[in-house]
Formats: sequence, structure tokens, C-alpha cells
Amino acid sequence: MCGIIGFTGFHKAQPILLEGLKRLEYRGYDSAGIAYFRDNTTHISIRKTAGKVSDLAAVCDDENDSICGIGHTRWATHGGVSTANAHPHKFGHVALIHNGIIENYQELTDTYGFGPKLKSQTDTEVAAAVISTKYDELGDPGEALKAAVREMKGSFAFCALFKEYPGKIFAIRNVSPMVATWTKEDGAFIASDLTAFIDYSKRYFAVPEYHLLTLSPEGIRLEDMDGNEVKPEYLTVDWDVSAAQKEGYPHFMLKEIHEQPDAIAKTIAPRIRDSLPDFSVDGIDDSLFEDVRDITVIACGTALYAGMVGAQMIRENFGIPVSCEIASEFRYERPVLNAHTLVIVCSQSGETIDTLAALRLAKTRTKKTLALVNVKGSSIARESDYVMYTHAGPEIAVASTKAYTSQVAAFYLIGVKLGLIGKKILIPEAKEFVETLRTVPDMVHTMLGYEDRVAALTKRLIHAWDVFYIGRGLDYKVAMEGALKLKEISYIHAEAYAAGELKHGTISLVEDGVPVIAISTQKNVHGKVISNIRETKARGAYVILLSRDENVTDPALCDVHFHIPDVPDEFTVFEVIVICQMLAYYTSTGRGVNPDQPRNLAKSVTVE
Ligand code: F6R
Repeated sequence: MCGIIGFTGFHKAQPILLEGLKRLEYRGYDSAGIAYFRDNTTHISIRKTAGKVSDLAAVCDDENDSICGIGHTRWATHGGVSTANAHPHKFGHVALIHNGIIENYQELTDTYGFGPKLKSQTDTEVAAAVISTKYDELGDPGEALKAAVREMKGSFAFCALFKEYPGKIFAIRNVSPMVATWTKEDGAFIASDLTAFIDYSKRYFAVPEYHLLTLSPEGIRLEDMDGNEVKPEYLTVDWDVSAAQKEGYPHFMLKEIHEQPDAIAKTIAPRIRDSLPDFSVDGIDDSLFEDVRDITVIACGTALYAGMVGAQMIRENFGIPVSCEIASEFRYERPVLNAHTLVIVCSQSGETIDTLAALRLAKTRTKKTLALVNVKGSSIARESDYVMYTHAGPEIAVASTKAYTSQVAAFYLIGVKLGLIGKKILIPEAKEFVETLRTVPDMVHTMLGYEDRVAALTKRLIHAWDVFYIGRGLDYKVAMEGALKLKEISYIHAEAYAAGELKHGTISLVEDGVPVIAISTQKNVHGKVISNIRETKARGAYVILLSRDENVTDPALCDVHFHIPDVPDEFTVFEVIVICQMLAYYTSTGRGVNPDQPRNLAKSVTVE
């Protein structure tokens, strides 16, 4: 939520900031701005506007040759969408950008009497005012930032320019993510995530919480709150700039849907040895799983739905009790965990604040926390006892696709490992399961072949008010993710129901022409789901059926049928979800929505 970038070095800053902001736009896109040292003097200039980064570019000065600046793309929290509320905010000698929420901003405003001096409704301007006040008192930017954040409650990633320090950027964070790097040829970069400066470096370090950074063209100094210098721990990513570009696709979402075979293969391949799961690349040996008696999966949104698939599969196939918890609920509950509970925290970004808070709570109750995370070095990855990375590469589109399928694949490997250790599965069966998992990239690839048919079908969906997804067992779990995809990027109300629950209330919503996406791939309940579908059809539903039947032509059952190729029951989720993702994508574009940047949403949810 909100993207921030800073650069100081041996190139003009403005193009680097604007390009970086474009890459960060998935984090927020209601307004944008930059601040820089005009003509590299002590004069700080600000350009900002409500709107997208392209609107910001239009109000920027082409002649700007500053080599040091900061930039921000906003997802509004405090104060509406307006140019006045856009960042950077200037107060006194300080220009500030911020990702996060200052919870005690009102208290700070009252304590310092800032009220009449503020020009915006944002908590960030209050933060700038506190920093500026401390700067006036202490005369040193670093000490001012440290003193200011000691008085603040909430989450923040701050980058600041101080008038008397041209060429320098000062930064500090709590909870909200920031990564940084320095190269001899280019200079120093800081941003919410690496995609913003991947053109310049694949090496970066995650900025530790409550550490002060001073960036200058010659290097980056990192120090703790007592002023002791700290050596940054650099990481390297194995993807390059093309992964963060559309590469000919009209949207990142479509590109990422197509990247799934590769993302899944990269996630599972390093963890399979002799056709069995092996997590030595993660530094995880069998002892982690040996005395596990139950599992709690914690996540939000799509990651939660991936967890639900994993949980059901592990419960059903390996007889291990697994519960799946919504992180934003879990963090305020009194969870029942014990030393034998394995807590799996699942997150694409590794920065979702509720998931992070839930992890912190879980750590007070068990020593077995395992993060399943896509972004290397992210907070959740760093704070968990163990970490397993999905290797989906950068996911830019707000709607998660390749992260989901990679997470499900990783859950499956973890499940087999637990099954083997708990003697719930024999080695030959485990090998067979793992070998089938290895073919998932091909399954997904086959399903991508339905793209044109799905696209054509969405002409029927774009005018819908409601769409219902129904299924049983794993089909119900995948239906939840399908419904989320559709609603978040098409703005059509979509809901998933366990097919057997329909007649307990929901079926009253079915009327003439209402689209029902009916999923029936689980053999043990196929007949039951078919009956449920007929019940909706009898009430006028427009049924799109996804099943393993070869030819379905019965008009009393469905209007459209997609044949799901025959694979073991546990694996059809990978096939079904591809159709659901494409259905959501083409419905969104058919309605003129940009699926990469749906309204009100941002990719990385770092506020509560
Ligand atoms: C939906 C979507 C969100 C995220 C959720 C958790 O397409 O992407 O529901 O899944 O915000 O994010 P992560 O996985 O980064 O913790």
C-alpha cells in the first residue's frame, strides 16, 4: 500500500523515480509525487498530482537535472484523493514520503499544536511536522528522524530530504517494507520493493526495522537507534527486469496467468529428490515435521484460499488435523496452539500486516513457524522460524494468480512429507503423488489452451450483477478463489457456495439468467453436485459447468461445458483455477476495467 522510491547517484533522478513509480503503481495508484533538490542546490522542489504516475509525468519538469530525489504513489488511508493529500509533504526544511499509518497522528497534532499549519488531511504531513520540529531542535537529520519515530505509533516506511543536505536521503521504517542497494556505477536506491530498481541491481538488502539509513551517491550507511553502524545483509534475486515488464502482454495479470507452468515448476523442482519431497535447499530437515500433531495455516485473501486447498488435501490424504485461519481474525483471538503445532504462514508479499501480526502471535505459542512466501527477505520470511520460498517471480498484478498455484503446489509437497513422516503414506504412493505433481505445469499449460473459448464466453458475463460459484470438497475451495478473482477485478458481485448449502438459503438468489459457475471434478461427490446444478438450472440459472465428463449436451444441466482433463482428484484444482482466472480477466477487460489496477485495492496490504 503506497509505493516509495528514492535515488541519489550519478544519473538524473527524475526518470529513475518515474520509472520506479510506474513499477510500484500496483501498490497504490490514486495520486503520485516527487521531491528533489532543484539544480542540486538546497532548494527542495515538489511535483505532485492526484491521478496516476502518467499524470505525474505530465506535470514534471523535463529540464529537471537533479541527481537526488524521492517519489511516491499513493493508496489513500487518511484524507481523500487530492493533490494536497498526495505525497511528498513538506514541512519546514523537510520533504517526506511515507508508506503506512501513523495511528497517533491526532495526538501528535494536538501535543505540538500543528493544526493550523497543516495543508492536508494526512497523517504523513503530521509526521513531517514532527520530524521538522525535531530537526529544528537537534540540528541533525538522522537524530531528528530517530527522535520523531520514538514518538510515533503505527507502521511507516519514511524517506526524507532535508534542505541543508542536498544529495542525501534519510530513511527509517517500522513494519512497512523497504529495500535498498548501492552500486559504484549508479549510486544508492531505496524502494518499497526491488522491482523499482531491478534495472540497476539484482542485489539488495531488506532494511531492518528501526534502523536509520543515510543514502548518498558514495554509499549507504545503516545504523541502529544508538548510532552503531550495521552491515547490511545483501540478497540476490534470480529474476531480471523482464520479469517485471509486460513483455507484449496487454496486462501483467494475463502474463502472470501464462507464467504459471514455469512458476510451479520452479517452486517444486528444487524440492524433489528421487521423486520424494526434500527441503534441504530450504535448510529444513525432517526434524521440523517429526513431532507435528496438527497444523494451523494462517493467511489472507488468495493466500488463504491456497491454504484451504492445502489444508483439505493434507487432512483428507494424510489424516493430519489442519485448520486454516484468517490472519486478521487470528491475530485478535486466543489461539489454541502447542509445541506440536506446525504453523504455516502463507503470503505472496511476505508483508501483509495481519499475517505478520498473526505470525508474531503464533511465535509466542509454538517454535514451529514456517513461512511460505514469494518475496525474498520480506518481513514474514525473516521473522518465521523456517522459510520456504515459492519461486513464482515478481507478481505485479493486484489479482494473485501464479503465487496461488505455486503456493498450492508447495503445500502439496509439504503434505507428502508429513504423510511420509507420519507413516500415513507408503513410499511408492508418495512417489506417484510427487510424480503427478511434477506434471502440474503441463496440466496448466493444457488449460491455457481454453483461452479463446473463455474470452468469448465472457461476453455473456459482463452484464451480470451476480455470479455464483458452486462445488464440493476441493472444488468448493477453488470456487472461493474463483469468486474472489472475478469480484476484485470486474466489480461483479461473486460468491462461492458449498453446493450442498444452496438449499439452506442461497438458492433463493437464483433467478432467470443468473450465471452459475458449477465445478464438479471430485469423483466421490460428482453425482451430488450434478443434482445441485440441476436445481439451479431448473430455476433459470445460466450454468457454466466445469467437469471431467467428455461431452455434456444436456440443456437441463448446463449451457456451457468445459471438459477438465482427467487427473487424480487432488490435482484438478490446478486445472479449474486457470479457467476461473481467465474468466475473471476477460470479464474485467470486457467491462473496461484495468485488471492490473482495480479500484480501492493495492497489492501489498501493509495497513490493517
Ligand atoms: C487477491 C489477492 C489478495 C492477497 C492478500 C494477501 O487476488 O491478491 O487477496 O492474496 O492480500 O496477500 P499476501 O499473499 O501478499 O499476503
